[in-house]
Amino acid sequence: QQLKLSLEQIEKGGYEHFMLKEIFEQPKSIHDTLRGRLLVEEGIIKMAGIWDHLERLNQAQKITIIACGTSWHAGLIGEYLIEEFARIPVEVEYASEFRYRNPIITDKDIVIAISQSGETADTMAAIKMAKEKGAFVYGICNVVDSSISRVTDAGSYTHAGPEIGVASTKAFTSQLTVLSLIALKLGKHNGHLSNQEFMKLITELDALPKKVEEVLESTHENVKEIAKHFIGAQNFLYLGRGYNFPAALEGALKLKEISYIHAEGYPAAEMKHGPIALIDENMPIVIIAPKQGHYDKIVSNVQEIKARKGRVVALVNKGDTQVASVADFVIEFPETSECFSPIIASIPLQLLAYYIAVYRGANVDQPRNLAKSVTVE
Ligand code: G6P
Repeated sequence: QQLKLSLEQIEKGGYEHFMLKEIFEQPKSIHDTLRGRLLVEEGIIKMAGIWDHLERLNQAQKITIIACGTSWHAGLIGEYLIEEFARIPVEVEYASEFRYRNPIITDKDIVIAISQSGETADTMAAIKMAKEKGAFVYGICNVVDSSISRVTDAGSYTHAGPEIGVASTKAFTSQLTVLSLIALKLGKHNGHLSNQEFMKLITELDALPKKVEEVLESTHENVKEIAKHFIGAQNFLYLGRGYNFPAALEGALKLKEISYIHAEGYPAAEMKHGPIALIDENMPIVIIAPKQGHYDKIVSNVQEIKARKGRVVALVNKGDTQVASVADFVIEFPETSECFSPIIASIPLQLLAYYIAVYRGANVDQPRNLAKSVTVE
């Protein structure tokens, strides 16, 4: 028992929990995901799985992304990325829904299955169905040689390394990194992305591991303090727009999973169609408000919340004054293109969920009722 305990301690590398260790591993896991693929000086993205099937992928009638949980959130951001840069229509579906309806999928379709474990039963069944309908299935898995990576026609691994904490952190940002690479590569080859834009974006992508390191260093202590104010919260609302709407969903999911506080993610503009009724001094609202991406609209959302006395935790870019001056708590993160901002914004959200859960005495690595890999329906 003693030996087992100390082995676990070694595996945690000095961190109190695997989740915290994995949050802090993200500069490396994103770097590992990019390594050997993103060659900025040569101006290319090398991905054998995409290159070998480039024509089929770029001629797809549509792309359907299937996944569950956090991987589904990554898929939503993948939709924004692929539609913006490769201009191919994308749909994102929960694997569990997809498998039990009769979706319109033909041999002109591409299905992208995203799964950290590569073992999720619903995703597996959805892939099987898509293949029967003739679709070409591309896998994005983290676990090498997992069941999903073996049944797909082609794929890319995320290279995040083993993820032990049940709540996904580094696998999520690696999934976003792979989806960014895919979208940019497809867009470059099908002509929707100019060389100049491509170069600008890959340069930004290349800078992400550094920026993630920066956000970890600059926000850690601040988020730890902010979390103390919300130990007793019973509900939380997470808001974002554009690329950061799915980031808001993921932020809310992290909090739910490990702290057992009810949290909902919403597109900020949808607030007026329901959630606004819930806002009062007891409702904390996390709002993702980077400079690039509907900033002015977000500013008015924050004002609407403050007018109703909601407590605002705002994630803003360094140097922001407008949102920062009205928010109750401010978390600053480095600026990047809007399309990559969820990768950076997700980090303080993971830390916020982590610390709130830790202060509440929850078992963050193994939350009740949840499993790392869901191999049953
Ligand atoms: C479980 C895990 C989540 C994960 C989801 C999908 O619910 O607790 O963290 O996002 O399954 O898992 P997958 O391995 O397919 O990404």
